[in-house]
Amino acid sequence: MANAQADTYLLALDQGTTSSRAILYNSLLQPQCSAAFEFEQHYPHNGWVEHDAEDLWQTTLQSCQQVIRDSGIEPQHIKALGITNQRETTLLWERSTGKVLSNAIVWQDRRTARFCDSLKQQGLEPLFRERTGLLLDPYFSATKLRWLLDNVEGAREAAERGELCFGTVDCYLLWRLTNGKVHATDASNASRTLLMNLATRQWDDELLEILDIPPSVLPEIRDNASDFGHTDAEFFGHPIAISAMVGDQQGALIGQACIHKGMLKSTYGTGCFALLNTGSSPIFSDNRLLTTLAYQLNGEPTYALEGSIFMAGAIIQWLRDSLGVLSTSAESETLAEGVDYQQSEILVPAFTGLGAPYWDPDARAALFGMTRDTGREELAAAALKSVAMQSQDLLQAMADDGQPATRLRVDGGMTDNRWFLQALSDMTGLPVERAAISEATSLGAAFLAGLQSGVFNSLEDITALHKVDIEFSSNLNALIRDEIRQRWLAAVAKIR
Ligand code: G3P
Repeated sequence: MANAQADTYLLALDQGTTSSRAILYNSLLQPQCSAAFEFEQHYPHNGWVEHDAEDLWQTTLQSCQQVIRDSGIEPQHIKALGITNQRETTLLWERSTGKVLSNAIVWQDRRTARFCDSLKQQGLEPLFRERTGLLLDPYFSATKLRWLLDNVEGAREAAERGELCFGTVDCYLLWRLTNGKVHATDASNASRTLLMNLATRQWDDELLEILDIPPSVLPEIRDNASDFGHTDAEFFGHPIAISAMVGDQQGALIGQACIHKGMLKSTYGTGCFALLNTGSSPIFSDNRLLTTLAYQLNGEPTYALEGSIFMAGAIIQWLRDSLGVLSTSAESETLAEGVDYQQSEILVPAFTGLGAPYWDPDARAALFGMTRDTGREELAAAALKSVAMQSQDLLQAMADDGQPATRLRVDGGMTDNRWFLQALSDMTGLPVERAAISEATSLGAAFLAGLQSGVFNSLEDITALHKVDIEFSSNLNALIRDEIRQRWLAAVAKIR
């Protein structure tokens, strides 16, 4: 285990779906200072979700600058920076000017659903699944990149001349932070593109050819803890080493110290992502879970089985911002408190289709079972319970794959809500452990940056640094649990 080193700090930058955050940690991974900025979501058409690349960059830069300013810590005492990010979101920019060709196409965007269908009709899903561990769904980057090449005027010709760079958000921020010096990604983010071969952890030539993507647009794939370059001195007054990059869900897996085979975490941010560490060999699901890279260190891969659901905290945001049913997200807890689990209302939150294990991009949300008494309380409870029910769907798929979970390590913004965590334990029948630091994602990125820069000696060091804050367990009668689940499954079936 590493020793505390005075005047040694690690900066984690977490570029998420709705906000960009920076957190400064000391060498014992205790948070010292943080800053966050939200940015606008763009929904230009039904099922489309975009971010302005400049918003991603400016909110990232501002949060880092504010943390450095507010903490009073000299940038030269920041040993290293780790980047973690919303995954799959796709950007394309000019190599010579850095100018993006369009808004970023966000992971939730469904515009390529028909193209994915056509690939499936050609019988290509087994090949993509075997090579990448993923499914043919608009969620992943490759079909979004293909869409940009086909739909932005001049993009394909420019790409063929080698003038364009593709990147997920990690890669784009690295490019901006180094002022265009480094075009690289990490293996965890690359594994979400539908273009990385899981066995070699390199771009797969055959898949590139099928999708007609010129290899010249692709970044180099590196380990998660690696020398990615330095921030340009103009941004923080002193260059800072960029020593780690990791997709946010893989970052949380590390931040939750799930570094051994069989350990599982579930993060409740915009969406919910449950990752089970499966060790040095990939496990391929029979129940439509994803096989993904957890992390790669010194060239050695560790794999995970992942259940991805698209709406978790975003449902509470919808109640707050679109319906005005809540004045704050925290109010969902007090409202839900008096509501019986066996309420008649069931919300199926397929606002952007359904992720695992259904993978139905065309499904849309519905609220069933309303009565004359249905009010804000029932809506809040139905919303929170829908996240617990979706989690149970994922755990059931893992169990059906012969990987039953015995406990859940949880983190993310929604885990402030105790009613939700109790419901999660009751709906899954499992003990639920909340991490002491709910920002496990950035903790994982800071840890990896510390690993690369010598603050920590080995991956094992994270085990001693991980702390549980509170545990929830369930006494709910199994018959009631099963009755609620059957009604949930019937409601899901109705919207498909
Ligand atoms: O795969 C999408 C995921 O990385 C988004 O994470 O934290 O923005 O919900 P988050």
